[in-house]
Amino acid sequence: MSGSRPVSRPIPLADLRRSWLATDPEVAEAAARVLASGWYIRGPEHDAFEAELAAFLGLGYACGVASGTDALVLALQAVGCGSGAEVVTAANAGGYATNAALQLGCRVVYADVDRSSQVVTPATVEAVLGPETRAVVVTHLYGNVADAATITALCRGRGIAVVEDCAQAIGGERDGRRAGAFGDVATLSFYPTKNLGTAGDGGAVATDDPGIAARVRSLRQYGWSTRYTVQDPLGRNSRLDEVQAAILRIGLRRVDAWNERRRAIVDHYAAALLSTGAPDVTMVTGAGVPTVAHLAVVRSTRRDDLRARLHAAGVGTDVHYPVPDHRQPGLPSPARRSALPETERAVAEVLTVPCFPDLTDDEVERISHALASSSA
Ligand SMILES: Cc1ncc(COP(=O)(O)O)c(C=O)c1O
Repeated sequence: MSGSRPVSRPIPLADLRRSWLATDPEVAEAAARVLASGWYIRGPEHDAFEAELAAFLGLGYACGVASGTDALVLALQAVGCGSGAEVVTAANAGGYATNAALQLGCRVVYADVDRSSQVVTPATVEAVLGPETRAVVVTHLYGNVADAATITALCRGRGIAVVEDCAQAIGGERDGRRAGAFGDVATLSFYPTKNLGTAGDGGAVATDDPGIAARVRSLRQYGWSTRYTVQDPLGRNSRLDEVQAAILRIGLRRVDAWNERRRAIVDHYAAALLSTGAPDVTMVTGAGVPTVAHLAVVRSTRRDDLRARLHAAGVGTDVHYPVPDHRQPGLPSPARRSALPETERAVAEVLTVPCFPDLTDDEVERISHALASSSA
């Protein structure tokens, strides 16, 4: 430092050492309380978290499970998807829904996405629905809340279930309802970097349907009806532990405020890009849809140049996601019912820049400046 101008520190894409999980004494106290209690699985913290999460989402039931991926598997099972069933989803969302569907022996068909917001739309979903479609997984990608209400309306008449993947969108709202409250069942992930993350793995399935909730509760615990009595041969062990539940109860009280901060950060980037008047870098997060800004995603036809310039300015970046599901080398070729032009185009253009509540105002300013300069 000795009098000279300090060199700006690189800004990481995420930094959990700064997060509430690492720094908040309330989190450490909650973990210590559970450890001292001797009750580690399916205890009072878990039951309280389930009730509080259901109330937060405006739904009747929430079921804690071990991860967001398990939540997708269990939700699909609970709406009746098994071997040979057809599941429609987007190909640009990291492959989680595809993974879950394939675990159950389902066939996957991909719907294209909206150019600006990168989420599926009623039109892109309707274009690929077929007589064998059993379920649609609507992923609220990057925190962008898709029009799951209209998609659900068009699926209901055809006996197709709608699963809302809210792993990236907890707390998001559209037309006065929370993401997750539009379809038949919602899934969540509490992976540490999520908008509501925990200090390990965790997930939940939420629904208004008592039948779906009962099936998930059985499937997540070996298919039991009561202890040691199996009623469902397809059960597994997928539980949210007491330490994670205790931590998540604290986070649930704060997630709306964190989402506000995330949105303010993304608004700052959007304003900086607008101020350049140059259209070659545009926002994807929040483009034409409500968002909780899980990831701040921009796009550019010169993505690699943009990435290099941001790197030179000390701004961490990543690509979510670089390989669409239908091009994954290890996955079976999906049935193609429609071209996926917007999915294909975006894969080469999207770029994620830092967006987490603990970014300082100075860092947000530096990222905005770096984005705007590369756009000029
Ligand atoms: C959209 C989406 N769905 C599902 C998952 C899977 O969640 P998990 O990592 O908890 O299995 C993730 C994230 O990791 C995700 O981003």
